[in-house]
Amino acid sequence: MKRIGMLTSGGDCQALNAAMRGVVKSLDYSKEDVEIYGFLDGYKGLIYSKFQMLTGRDFSGILTKGGTILGTSRTPFKTIQDPDENGLNKVEAMKQNYYKLQLDCLVILGGNGTHKTANLLRQEGLNIITLPKTIDNDLWGTDMTFGFQSAVNIATDAIDCIHTTAASHGRVFIVEVMGHKVGWLTLNAGMAGGADIILLPEIPYDIDKVVEKIEERDKRGSRFTIIAVAEGAISKADAKLSKKDYKKKLEKRTHPSVSYEVAAAIQQKTGREVRVTVPGHTQRGGSPCPYDRVFASRLGAEAGKLILDNQYGFMVGYKNREIVRVPLEDVAGKLKMIEPDATIVQEAKLLGISFGD
Ligand code: F6P
Repeated sequence: MKRIGMLTSGGDCQALNAAMRGVVKSLDYSKEDVEIYGFLDGYKGLIYSKFQMLTGRDFSGILTKGGTILGTSRTPFKTIQDPDENGLNKVEAMKQNYYKLQLDCLVILGGNGTHKTANLLRQEGLNIITLPKTIDNDLWGTDMTFGFQSAVNIATDAIDCIHTTAASHGRVFIVEVMGHKVGWLTLNAGMAGGADIILLPEIPYDIDKVVEKIEERDKRGSRFTIIAVAEGAISKADAKLSKKDYKKKLEKRTHPSVSYEVAAAIQQKTGREVRVTVPGHTQRGGSPCPYDRVFASRLGAEAGKLILDNQYGFMVGYKNREIVRVPLEDVAGKLKMIEPDATIVQEAKLLGISFGD
């Protein structure tokens, strides 16, 4: 008999359900007796003992369903070791609930912050297996996270739709893409959508270079320009500031986001009409794309195998086209960013895409 706790934490994304289904299906087929405890709303469920006992049936028919059947929430790692408003020690509470239910392991689906807490629980002696979810694709130790490809599809669709209206009106259009502090989503959606300029957190931009590219397109007779801007994009000047000073500057920012700042600067320097589109959380919503369904199912199946082999302390990841086990201590606290001289960036530049650098 195996008793398994499961939770999804942090921002949701497509294929969370597909991944959980993969774990449960692979265990179901093993003939091992399994009890599943689904903790609700992320680590909160584990802290406050909010869970549901689930069976294989609960995971049936959810392969294509977006969101997470367990619910999720953000429980920042920064404050996980601080007592809650009633003085409860959250880490101790999670351990106690794990032991009270006599769990053999916890399967945790999450992104960067989630992995830090997962690793802390591992250090505290719990058996942990994690699965890499996030539309940002910024988890270290895996070439791919589930949710990412689905989000690329949605952001690309947004750019595609903007293309036709931008062409009709001869406007400069900015599409702001999610991704937190990294540019994977913007780079991929930008290239897939044929953006002319792509601004990423990893490659600070110079607004004059952005304007130069727009004017170059004008001269060539292209009436419009599409700019894919990562929500975390940063100017060269701002990149020189200390973290503290940049944070202070952001607090005083009058524009809702970097895209509006870039739009205002372009408008002021060129006199051109600039519009901003922010697809926002639509990028995390809806059904997982086929790639993510397959990918998340494979990760889930491997997690099931790890459980049956009593192998804990790993994130199930993907490296060089293979599903791999990555020690949690290697993953926690590290961001996977785009190298500014990565081959994909060089190739994009060969295609004439400007990064404003
Ligand atoms: O990490 C996923 C993500 O969608 C980021 O791309 C984005 O910056 C953030 O979450 C948004 O978070 P929230 O849903 O809490 O607004």
